[in-house]
Amino acid sequence: MARPLPTVRTRPLDPPTELGRLRAEHPISRLAYPDGHLGWLVTGHAAARAILADPAFSARSELQRRPVGDGPREPAGPGIFINMDAPDHTRYRRLITGQFTVRRMRELEPRIEQITAESLDAMERHGPPLDLVESFALPIPSLVICELLGVPSRERERFQRDTAVIASLDATAEQARSATADLARYLHELVLRKRADPADDLISDLTSGGELNDEELTGVAVMLLIAGHETTAGMLSLGTLALLSDPSQQARLRADPSLTGNAVEELLRYLSIIHLGPTRTAVQDIELYGVRIAAGETVTISLPAANRDPGRFPDPDELDLTRATAGHLAFGHGIHQCIGQQLARVELRVGLNALLRRFPTLRLAVTQEDIGFRTDSITYGVRSLPVTWHLGEAT
Ligand code: HEM
Repeated sequence: MARPLPTVRTRPLDPPTELGRLRAEHPISRLAYPDGHLGWLVTGHAAARAILADPAFSARSELQRRPVGDGPREPAGPGIFINMDAPDHTRYRRLITGQFTVRRMRELEPRIEQITAESLDAMERHGPPLDLVESFALPIPSLVICELLGVPSRERERFQRDTAVIASLDATAEQARSATADLARYLHELVLRKRADPADDLISDLTSGGELNDEELTGVAVMLLIAGHETTAGMLSLGTLALLSDPSQQARLRADPSLTGNAVEELLRYLSIIHLGPTRTAVQDIELYGVRIAAGETVTISLPAANRDPGRFPDPDELDLTRATAGHLAFGHGIHQCIGQQLARVELRVGLNALLRRFPTLRLAVTQEDIGFRTDSITYGVRSLPVTWHLGEAT
C-alpha cells in the first residue's frame, strides 16, 4: 500500500527509520503524494544514481508533484535552470559552469578565510552563550555569495535583510514571497548596473558574454543565491552539531586537521541535508529494478536514504570521518549535480576548521532535546544552535 513520505525522525541526525525499512524491502517503493498523486520513492543508492542520470526523468517543475506540502505547479522562470531539461538546461549550465572556475574559487578562498575570521572575532567580542546559526552559519555563506555575485558592501544590508527573511522559518509565505520579489528587483537593478559598469565578479562576466538577457541573468542570480545560501548554512550548523555530539570524532579532527577535507565529505553524506527530494517526473514509461514507472509519475529521490544505504556504505549510520565517502549523493548526481559544490566545500572546510581551532572548549549550551529542528523545508537544519565556551580560552 502506498504511504506518504516518512518524515518523523527518532534521532535528529538520522533519517526517519521507516526509510531504512522501505529500502530493505525494495530500492523503489510506491509513494502517496499529498495531492493524491500515486508516484514513487527511491531509497536505494544505485537506483537513486540511475534515475538522477536518466533523461527519461524530467526536472521540470510544472510536471512535478511535491512529496510534502502543496504548491502551484508552474514552469521555471527565465534562468531558473535547476527546473529545466536539456537543451534549455544545457545552455544555461554551460554558461554558469564557466563562471565557477578553479581560478575564481581559489581567489575566493582568502576572502572566505577573512569572512570566517571576522565572524569568529565578532563571536569572541559577544562572548558566550550565543546562537551559532545567527553568528556564524548564516553570515558566512551570505557574505561569500555577495562576494561571488559582486554585491557592493554598502548594499549588503538590504540584500541580507531579504535573504534572512527567505531563510527564516518564522516568516509567513507572504513575507517570503515579498522578500523574494524584493531580492529579484534588487538583483535586476544590479544586473543593469553591472552591464553599464562591469567589475571582476560573476554577474559582470555573464553580462559581458552577451548570451543572457536581463531577465535570465536576474533568474540565475536569484537561483544561485537561494540554492547556495541556506544549504551551506545548514551544513555549517548541522555539521558543528554532529561534531559537538560525537566527542571522539571531534577529538580525531582536532588532533589531525588534515582530516578536514574527508570530514566534510563524511558530514555531507551523514547529514544529507537536502532531505525531501530531489524530485523528477518520468516522461516515458520505463522499467527499473523490476518496477514499471509510467510516464507522468513523479519520483522522489531520498538522498538521506541513498546515502545511508548499507550496500554502498558499510555501517552507514556511523559518523566516521576517515571512511571512504566517494559516490555520496549529497550534491545530487547527473546533469543537475550541484554547480556550487566546490565553493560549498571550501566554505565548510575553512569554516569548521577555524571554528574548532578558535574555540577549543566549544560545546552545546542546551541539550540536544532542546534544539528546534526544521523538518518542513527542502533543507534539513536547526532553527538555532545555542553554544558556549570557556571565557578566555579562545585562541
Ligand atoms: C543543485 C546540494 C551548495 C548552487 C544542487 C543539487 C543538490 C545540491 C542536491 C541537485 C538538485 C537536483 O538534482 O534537482 C547542495 C548542498 C550544498 C549546496 C548540500 C551545500 C552544502 C550550493 C552553492 C551554490 C549552489 C554554494 C551556489 C553558489 C546550485 C545550483 C544547482 C544546485 C545552481 C542547480 C544545478 C543544475 O540544475 O544544473 N545542489 N548545494 N549549491 N546547486 Fe547546490
